[in-house]
Amino acid sequence: MSFPAQRPRRLRRNELLRGLVRETRLSAAGFVYPLFVCPGANVRNEVGSMPGVFQQSADQIVEECREIEQLGIPAVILFGLPESKDPRGSSSLAAEGPVQRATAAIRRANLKLLVITDVCLCEYTDHGHCGVMENGEVANDATLTILAEQAVSHARAGADIVAPSDMMDGRVGAIRDALDEHKFESVAILSYAAKYCSGFYGPFREAAQSAPQFGDRRSYQMDPANAREALKEVALDLEEGADMVMVKPAIPYLDIVRRVREMTTVPVGAYNVSGEYAMVKAAAQKGWIEEQRVVLEILTSIQRAGADFILTYHAKDAARWLKP
Ligand code: PBG
Repeated sequence: MSFPAQRPRRLRRNELLRGLVRETRLSAAGFVYPLFVCPGANVRNEVGSMPGVFQQSADQIVEECREIEQLGIPAVILFGLPESKDPRGSSSLAAEGPVQRATAAIRRANLKLLVITDVCLCEYTDHGHCGVMENGEVANDATLTILAEQAVSHARAGADIVAPSDMMDGRVGAIRDALDEHKFESVAILSYAAKYCSGFYGPFREAAQSAPQFGDRRSYQMDPANAREALKEVALDLEEGADMVMVKPAIPYLDIVRRVREMTTVPVGAYNVSGEYAMVKAAAQKGWIEEQRVVLEILTSIQRAGADFILTYHAKDAARWLKP
């Protein structure tokens, strides 16, 4: 049966009809808002390439978290800018480190908010790589011990979920073992399972001061040309005990989001990264696109592709726009 019996436009006639048959319903309940924590007090510096995003001290983070809670966003993910860096990223383990302090402060404020912490070394190493260096290479196994210890220190500070983003092999298993050993068996692991070596992380590296000082991340992050390999990464992380997996970046990898969604029953997240955000902001500032429309379209597309939740710098704006 086709035209004139079939007229798909019948169901597009007005917003009530369109709303009734809408397949993807975007909501703030599926957003995670990323925050950058720095040392000190009363610090709030806007990131040049990410308008609306700030490097903030723990006290300011708590204030922003009150707003995030009010907007109905259920979770934040914290990135740290430490006081000092060294080749091993030792400052990532400090109980008084920025992520640990902010996590504890959010806990003390008793907010209805999940705290996710990014577990990685790149913000804490002086060379800016996500692991320790041995013989000019990023050493996998030596890095695992530090990542595991970092995850435990985040859990101790009160993190609900730890999210390893380094792309070392075996890190999910190492972190799970360490958490369990320290009685943090209920802290969940959100693995950045399929994290691509992407040009879209540029603004983040300004925000987190984590650009590699030499070379690039191609020896540990995934080749953008590969899709089957993402499924292998996801399978390995699930075997090692990941509770949830993430695909990153989001927009250029919607096919990966879809394929990961189809291969597993665990929740799938997608990270709408800094470069994706910066492009929208820049074009909107120039008046070349309608920001609200484009942002909601992008977030809808990520959810439609199969993401259960979306990490996005647009979360606060989108939550406001979606308020009934
Ligand atoms: C690494 C990390 C990165 C991002 C999240 N975790 C940067 C990188 O791998 O270079 C990027 C997030 C973004 O671009 O918004 N700890």
